[in-house]
Amino acid sequence: MRRMILAAAAALTLVAGPALAAGEAEHPRQQKWSFDGPFGTFDRGALQRGFLVYKEVCSSCHAMQQKAYRHLANIGFSEEEIRAIAAGYKVMDGPNDEGEMFERTARASDRFKRPFANEKAARAANNGAYPVDLSLIVKARHDGANYLYSLLTGYKAPPPGKTVGEGMHYNPYFPGGQIAMGAPLNADAVTFADNTPATVEQMAKDVTSFLAWAAEPEMESRKRMGVQVMLFLIVLSGMLYAVKRKVWADVH
Ligand code: HEC
Repeated sequence: MRRMILAAAAALTLVAGPALAAGEAEHPRQQKWSFDGPFGTFDRGALQRGFLVYKEVCSSCHAMQQKAYRHLANIGFSEEEIRAIAAGYKVMDGPNDEGEMFERTARASDRFKRPFANEKAARAANNGAYPVDLSLIVKARHDGANYLYSLLTGYKAPPPGKTVGEGMHYNPYFPGGQIAMGAPLNADAVTFADNTPATVEQMAKDVTSFLAWAAEPEMESRKRMGVQVMLFLIVLSGMLYAVKRKVWADVH
């Protein structure tokens, strides 16, 4: 009995630990996402707009090392578009036959160019704070999509009595209520190709969709497979039931 209580207490600590550590963070505001639920899919328009927001705004501080330009085919960019996007970057390659590293134009097969050479350089440019790699952020945070959206749209003046540290910004959705990242989105920071107005909410929603895709690009096929398996099991159950009726029909 005593052992069981101890085990239960230990389990509870494990579960409660992260929640307590998150401290004063406010609960993310719940949004409707096209990718919610067992039949949810990604909205290609939103993903492409979201990529633009990442590229024009976030990529100056945050890397996405798990993504290569060629992966953008998955969200509807054509080969030419991808080649053109990659061609906008220079990357280091080598060594060549002389043993020298050299710079060349990026190709579709290259990873997204990272803004800083290493973590130290990233921290030095950001007041000591580290802009995390965003490849998996939506999966890495509890209620990731809603958290991200709430964080990006949640900057406001601190309530009376709350002091915010030097170089920090008040944001109730970040654990501790203050974050080293200043509000990254301003209205009309980008111009969308499909003429969607670039409000802060719109950009936050689209970049979140893009990062949700980035964290789980195989989500749609996973869900499709789930539905197929369910259908298969339903049909199989029906058939087994019919067979059972037939086999036992003469037994009274
Ligand atoms: C000027 C640099 C800069 C830009 C631009 C920027 N960020 Fe950040 N971001 C940071 C830094 C620095 C931190 C770390 C903050 C901290 O630890 O207090 C951060 C933190 C974050 C976090 C919190 C991660 C966590 O641990 O929960 C998210 C999410 C995030 N950024 C997303 C974005 C998105 C999306 C964009 C583009 C719309 C963006 N950032 C643009 C510098 C930047």
